[in-house]
Amino acid sequence: MKKYTFHLFAILGMALFLSSCGDQNGKASSNSGLSSNNAEKVYVAPGEHDEFYAFMSGGYSGNLTVYGLPSGRMFKEIPVFSQFPTSGYGYSEETKPMLNTSFGFVPWDDAHHPDISQTNGELDGRWIFINGNNTPRIARISLSTFETEEIMEVPNSAGNHSSSFVTENTEYVVAGTRFSVPIPQRDMPINEYKGNFRGSLSFISVDPEDGHMDLKFQILMPGFNYDLSHPGRGKSHGWFFFTTYNTEEANSLLEVNASQNDKDFIAAVNWKKIEEYVANGGGTMMPAEYAHNVYDEASHTATSTLKKEVLTIDPTKVPGAVYFLPTPKSPHGVDVDPSGEYIIGNGKLSADLTIHSFDKMVAAIEAKKFDGEAYGIPILKFDDVLAGTVKSGGLGPLHTEFDGEGNAYTTFFISSEVVMWKLGTWEVIDRKPTYYSVGHLMIPGGNSRKPFGKYVVAMNKITKDRYLPTGPELEHSAQIYDISGDKMELIYDFPTHGEPHYAAGIPAELLAPKSKKIYKLSENKHPFAATGPADTEVVREGNEVHIYMSMIRSHFTPDNIEGIKVGDKVYFHVTNQEQDFDVPHGFAMIGANNSELLIMPGQTKSLVWEPKKVGVWPFYCTDFCSALHQEMQGYIRVSPAGSNTELSWSLGE
Ligand code: CUA
Repeated sequence: MKKYTFHLFAILGMALFLSSCGDQNGKASSNSGLSSNNAEKVYVAPGEHDEFYAFMSGGYSGNLTVYGLPSGRMFKEIPVFSQFPTSGYGYSEETKPMLNTSFGFVPWDDAHHPDISQTNGELDGRWIFINGNNTPRIARISLSTFETEEIMEVPNSAGNHSSSFVTENTEYVVAGTRFSVPIPQRDMPINEYKGNFRGSLSFISVDPEDGHMDLKFQILMPGFNYDLSHPGRGKSHGWFFFTTYNTEEANSLLEVNASQNDKDFIAAVNWKKIEEYVANGGGTMMPAEYAHNVYDEASHTATSTLKKEVLTIDPTKVPGAVYFLPTPKSPHGVDVDPSGEYIIGNGKLSADLTIHSFDKMVAAIEAKKFDGEAYGIPILKFDDVLAGTVKSGGLGPLHTEFDGEGNAYTTFFISSEVVMWKLGTWEVIDRKPTYYSVGHLMIPGGNSRKPFGKYVVAMNKITKDRYLPTGPELEHSAQIYDISGDKMELIYDFPTHGEPHYAAGIPAELLAPKSKKIYKLSENKHPFAATGPADTEVVREGNEVHIYMSMIRSHFTPDNIEGIKVGDKVYFHVTNQEQDFDVPHGFAMIGANNSELLIMPGQTKSLVWEPKKVGVWPFYCTDFCSALHQEMQGYIRVSPAGSNTELSWSLGE
């Protein structure tokens, strides 16, 4: 066996060596510049596992994708804000409530920034949060089941972009508004925006036991655009930092009108102060409408509740709660280093990076050294809070991550590169091109006190010639750089699904051991569960028919059903009786106006079908589950409306 493995590696190594030699004559490799030993760094042999999980936002897919690092292999797409026929999410009766909002059923969103829960500032691997931008929502996904468990709509918000980042002990997941709007919403002229619109920053508490979210308070800020945010950590724990742009409060042609001010602000929010204020009865309850959707693992069913009010905070009424740090030039990302001292403003129209000092900020606040105010919020003096500037020579800085070794890595969109620089001395150490136009970047744990600085992944907006063309639409590209040495080394390039914005990575050893394998049938609390053939039945209530169905390799119980009529509303409640890992079954019904169901071992899911035509109609299992998968099927007899066909069901008769 040992010998065989050795030969396999020798052959693969040779193949990789030959192919990289061959490429040197071709066009693509002129940008790649890879040496053959880089191939070994990303090669994960068949049957071997990756070292890291990477959770990448799906952007306009509305979902979250899971990849392995360094292999770049995609493991799963987790449906979050979008209906997903692959599993039946958003189509099954149990999961439809997950996509409910105060606007009704909204089966799509634009998912941007995943963030993994933390304890003491370190990744704890319990949950991952992600924001829906368009119809503002925050989702919580279990990292044991890899399923979306909860979605909270965010009222008084629009373009939920500066979200969803967690505080050091996951006390809060935070959501900021990109678009300021009238609060409360009302019919008013758009050109009266200035001074009248507000921007809300929402603090959603997370229950430390079960993760359940609750919108605790909303800070009603001046009508700027709140673009991105990050929590303080270590000494700055208790603060949250938000970038702003459009401090001009323009309502039209923002590309010109929102680029007038030389400096916009980073808003520093002392949420502990506000928490205290709220605990002492501060804040104003305001009517609002927002949905709160929770999936219960025991009943395999989601419920949606419409909430009616939200606690709002006027920041000028809470002394010491909010300050503005002037930051050039329409800053996009704001990133806090692992020590909590440095707050990096990535001014997207600037060549330099601005780094603020937390200690200097606190000293300036204590000395009350202000440079005026904006809508009652004190503005600190730029020079009083400045820690340093990175003269990068790049153009269009967007985002910064950290390796935990004293280095920072910043993406530059316009000059298409990642720049590595040193915290404290601000010197540029290395720079490497990206292919092309990089947005976010990710180091596993890079947004925590303990980064795992082995790789940095650049997420690029433009793909062009990197892969075989697939018509006008190309998947975006991600690139992995090895950062374990003194310099960055590009080692791999892989396509990513949807439009990844931010991503969150975590060592596999923190997640894999607690990944759920089955749902226990004995714990199934679904009201329509048929945990064995004895529980199966068909019940008519007027024109509603409920079929309690079970499935096991390789049949359904029952598989012949008669007495269904045109005009009925038929609910298939299907329970997968299997108790083995990785044995889902599917269920699909001809003419159903939704999708299939993919049902995990021990789980119950329901599909609604409204038969429109008389006849005998088949259903079948959609997942190749056994050698007799093709035999896993059944028939429904549909009689005319008003017919007297008896309701009956059977298996093997
Ligand atoms: Cu069950 Cu295929």
